[in-house]
Amino acid sequence: MPKSLEELASPFLKGLVPYLPGKPVEEVERELGIKGAVKLASNENPLGPSPQAVRALREALSNSHRYPDGGGYYLKRALADRLEVTSEHLILGNGCNEILDLMARCFLLPGDEVVIADPAFVLYGMLAHLQGCEKILVPLKGWTHDLEAMAKAVTSKTKMVFIGNPNNPTGTAVKPGEIEAFMQAVSEDVLVVIDEAYIEYVPEELVPDSVGFVRQGRWVIVLRTFSKIYGLAGLRIGYGIAPPSMVELLNRARAPFNTNVLAQRAALAALDDRQHIASSRKVNELGKAYLTTELGRLGLQGPPSAANFLLIDLKRDGRAVAEALLRKGVIVRPLGGRYLSTHIRVTIGTPPENERFIEALKSVLQSGSHLRS
Ligand SMILES: Cc1ncc(COP(=O)(O)O)c(C=O)c1O
Repeated sequence: MPKSLEELASPFLKGLVPYLPGKPVEEVERELGIKGAVKLASNENPLGPSPQAVRALREALSNSHRYPDGGGYYLKRALADRLEVTSEHLILGNGCNEILDLMARCFLLPGDEVVIADPAFVLYGMLAHLQGCEKILVPLKGWTHDLEAMAKAVTSKTKMVFIGNPNNPTGTAVKPGEIEAFMQAVSEDVLVVIDEAYIEYVPEELVPDSVGFVRQGRWVIVLRTFSKIYGLAGLRIGYGIAPPSMVELLNRARAPFNTNVLAQRAALAALDDRQHIASSRKVNELGKAYLTTELGRLGLQGPPSAANFLLIDLKRDGRAVAEALLRKGVIVRPLGGRYLSTHIRVTIGTPPENERFIEALKSVLQSGSHLRS
């Protein structure tokens, strides 16, 4: 009898289920035979990509026969200028997901402990599991990372700590002073991943100087992405800011052309598109205020969000409500797990999308259609 694939595969694949992304609009429309579905499930920018990025993309298309610049020279230079670091402090990734993956592959070994908030972005736990690490889950406090407890959870076996700021799926941000205190408290041997995928949405007074830790030479990597406020999720490009020695190690494991020609060019243009960034922030703030008020009228609430999505406690089965909303063409994210079985996560959309969500939610809750499947 030949061995089964399961036997040949990494033992750490056991117990792992594939990451479940939000359903694409086309798939929902095809499956339900409807038109005009709205997707509020993946925290994308509802205004679309930066128009300057779209122009740059059109120009870059005719260069698609060439391999990209594997080092991303121009994009890194522009980022380095803005962040007051050198290009050697930067690594580009196929989304910041790829950089999370590189961090896991390059540093995590079976038996290492990894400290993660619970709930947090699911990928952190998946990557730790895949490397055979011990996940030390630290419950949130007031829906926010409990950094004091996380610092206390660090032992001599801890290799890495993940801090999502703002946290997904709660949208909450920690106070800058709390990150400072955490960095003071933990050993300099611990690798700290500060995931700032949504940082451009965060009010200024809550933005920590995370890059400062990198400049100080701490073993910190700060992750940012072009998938959120810059509206380029489909192109898959993000970046990490880390000490040059860490970037050098990650580059050893990085695929040679991991970010493509179009993504690099679009990202470079999007960085400069101040108008798109400003309108995206504004639409997000207005949408957040509208949704918070309307949800409040329905007696529903969630933690205060510093990002472009809201976690909502429906006080009833979140998955059933998400299914019922889907049948009305509104795609949101059900959550589940130990803490969030009555919650959904909703991306803040354009005003018509937000209204469509509220109307659909009212109708589902009033008709009880979530109780029938
Ligand atoms: C906290 C967090 N980190 C990272 C990512 C991944 O971003 P990217 O599209 O750059 O891979 C997401 C995407 O939803 C996220 O929520």
